[in-house]
Amino acid sequence: MTTLVTGGAGYIGSITTRLLRSTGRSVVVLDSLENGHAAAVQDTPLVVGNIADTALVSKVCRDHDVDEVVHFAAYKAVGESMENPGKYFDNNVTGSQKLIDTISACGITRFVFSSTAAIYGTPESVPVVESSAVRCESVYAQTKLMIEHLLHWYGQTKGLRSVSLRYFNAAGASDDSTLGEDWRFSQNLMPHVMKAILGESAALSVFGNDYSTPDGTGVRDYIHVEDLATSHVAALDYLSNGGQTLICNVGTGHGTSVLEILHATERIVGKPVPHVFKPRRTGDPSECYAATILAAEKLGFTASRSLDDIISSAYAWHATHPNGHNTN
Ligand code: UD1
Repeated sequence: MTTLVTGGAGYIGSITTRLLRSTGRSVVVLDSLENGHAAAVQDTPLVVGNIADTALVSKVCRDHDVDEVVHFAAYKAVGESMENPGKYFDNNVTGSQKLIDTISACGITRFVFSSTAAIYGTPESVPVVESSAVRCESVYAQTKLMIEHLLHWYGQTKGLRSVSLRYFNAAGASDDSTLGEDWRFSQNLMPHVMKAILGESAALSVFGNDYSTPDGTGVRDYIHVEDLATSHVAALDYLSNGGQTLICNVGTGHGTSVLEILHATERIVGKPVPHVFKPRRTGDPSECYAATILAAEKLGFTASRSLDDIISSAYAWHATHPNGHNTN
């Protein structure tokens, strides 16, 4: 009995893979290594290849006696998805459809999917509940929603049971700071804060300080990547215990502003974060944080790590990985 983790050489995938093994599971990773790093997989079996390669996926499922899947593999750059939509529809949607079809044909009925709160777009109210309207504002978000729909229909037609985890803002590094995000190309806040404080960039650009939030900067729900990893274990356990298909937020339920992150980082590291105020970034909502009741009720999952834990682990990871990623 083995868990197949697609995209297990990436940021959230590698940390989840390690956590799954610590629960006693046997794991096999399938990753193209286009964006992931073999070193992040450590000593877990790694198959280098694509989720759309149906012959390869069938072979992996047979050879490793796979009985459940956690699917991370996807492109995730919002801006790029708007410039090159075909790349995203092809890899994320068509690739996932082939993966789902293949694992289903292999008799696998349990599937956990890495979805995103980006599906909600600018939320109509906060905290955001799962029954909120979906308003995809990017091709990236649309591809994730389309995969949720695929999972629904494979559930209806093939008996696949799935949990789609709608992540809020994944941040931080593994508790021991040995696994983390490849921060060379990330457009997200936390890597930019760290680059600024480490002198890797001249200054952090704070996008907008005229939002209708307490300090005028954007508010998000930052969840520690180890907590996020734990939610996948909880989702697999839920499915193993007979749980039915579920779409569920994964966040902390607390909103934090850009300036709060900046000031907490200065306090923890003991140095200033050079920053400049810039206009709002197009498409950014003012506030977005999760309603977490469904995850608590259905999965028994509640985030346990603090904002300080997120910042400390992110700083330790950035400070000790000058290349931005794990290397062999
Ligand atoms: C982004 C993605 C979203 C994805 C999520 C998690 C966009 C528009 N959305 O969400 O699809 O699911 O990451 O990976 O890219 N900020 C700055 N300066 C920076 C970077 C960010 O001030 O250099 C601010 C933003 O304006 C925002 C907050 O920090 O208020 C968080 O931004 P970011 O980390 O990019 O996450 P989201 O935009 O919430």
